[in-house]
Amino acid sequence: MSPISEVIVNKQTKNNPIWIMRQAGRYLPEFREIRKNNPDFIKLCLNQNLSTEITLQPLKRFELDAAIIFSDILMVPYGLNQKVEFKKNFGPSLGDLNLSKISELTEEDFVKKINQVYEAIKLVSSNQLVKNKDTIGFVGAPWTLLVYMINKHSPKLKLANNFFSDELLINEILKILDKFIKIHIKNQIDSGAKIIQIFDSWAGLLNKDKLDKYVYDPTLSLVEFTKSLNVPVICFPRGIKDYKKYSEYVKPDAICIDYEVDPVQIKKEIKIPIQGGMDPKILLTDKENLKKEAKKYLDIFKDHPYIFNLGHGVLPETDPNMMDYLVKMVKDY
Ligand code: CP3
Repeated sequence: MSPISEVIVNKQTKNNPIWIMRQAGRYLPEFREIRKNNPDFIKLCLNQNLSTEITLQPLKRFELDAAIIFSDILMVPYGLNQKVEFKKNFGPSLGDLNLSKISELTEEDFVKKINQVYEAIKLVSSNQLVKNKDTIGFVGAPWTLLVYMINKHSPKLKLANNFFSDELLINEILKILDKFIKIHIKNQIDSGAKIIQIFDSWAGLLNKDKLDKYVYDPTLSLVEFTKSLNVPVICFPRGIKDYKKYSEYVKPDAICIDYEVDPVQIKKEIKIPIQGGMDPKILLTDKENLKKEAKKYLDIFKDHPYIFNLGHGVLPETDPNMMDYLVKMVKDY
């Protein structure tokens, strides 16, 4: 069994498994080289040969235990025919929502529109570099996708006051998302994904009274679906205050924590395998400090099933040598 599955399924940490969110991305010069000639990000995600190459880039450099497929959570709104663009120094920018158009969409249309993602997963999974490692597929949680679909770009610190004004529309979109995210999960698994991670990057924007309806219930539906396909699922509800309650309610196989979570406290509260935690900004400091901080997490979780990762994606300004140092340090721990 691969080291990450060993942690999640057998609850044993062997060989200090490690992978990094956004491990394929802008901090790597070989990625920037490809990106320079491919200004359309969505088109790049839909070029199965290039997205396979990008997915494998970090595995050629570092002894990571998983490949995470080079794609984006916004491929789902794109597959639902909402316009999605990525603007330099701005991030994602989505077009208007046309509910009647989305409601008419069939599974076949959706799969056809983003099929190259699944082709890339097949290519990655069968590559020698991924032997004895996991291919991780992923989706955005319904709440985070709803935020993008309605807000049309990344929210800054809070939601617009009128965000919840059209409840009928919101309920309709949540229903559609539940259906199509499941289709996306199933197709990734059928193509070779061995683990699914659910990113709920904007879970922290909600008040307690709205968590049941927008975070807990819709995510539980996806977790149960993924488990029914016999594939483990990791959840990352970034910024949520009560990780314990989340874990008990949503019941993922493993939980990924953000860098604001106190690792000592969470270890006491949570029984399931834990992933991540270290602040990505630590990689912008020096090796001595990096070693100290990484060791802190490894020490705390030495008797708890743990997968090393960061508390959010690796930052574009990270020096690949620092990543190299981190991976070696974790493996030699
Ligand atoms: O290596 C990996 O982790 C796999 C690929 C991956 C990407 N996006 C590629 C990407 C994954 C898992 C994601 C998830 C994603 N996308 C999330 C959830 C995780 C998180 O960061 O909170 C979110 C919210 C998005 C939406 C998104 N995509 C934003 C906000 C942006 C722009 C800002 C940014 O961080 O770059 C993207 C673009 C994006 N997705 C890039 C990459 C490598 C950068 C594209 C570029 O080259 O300009």
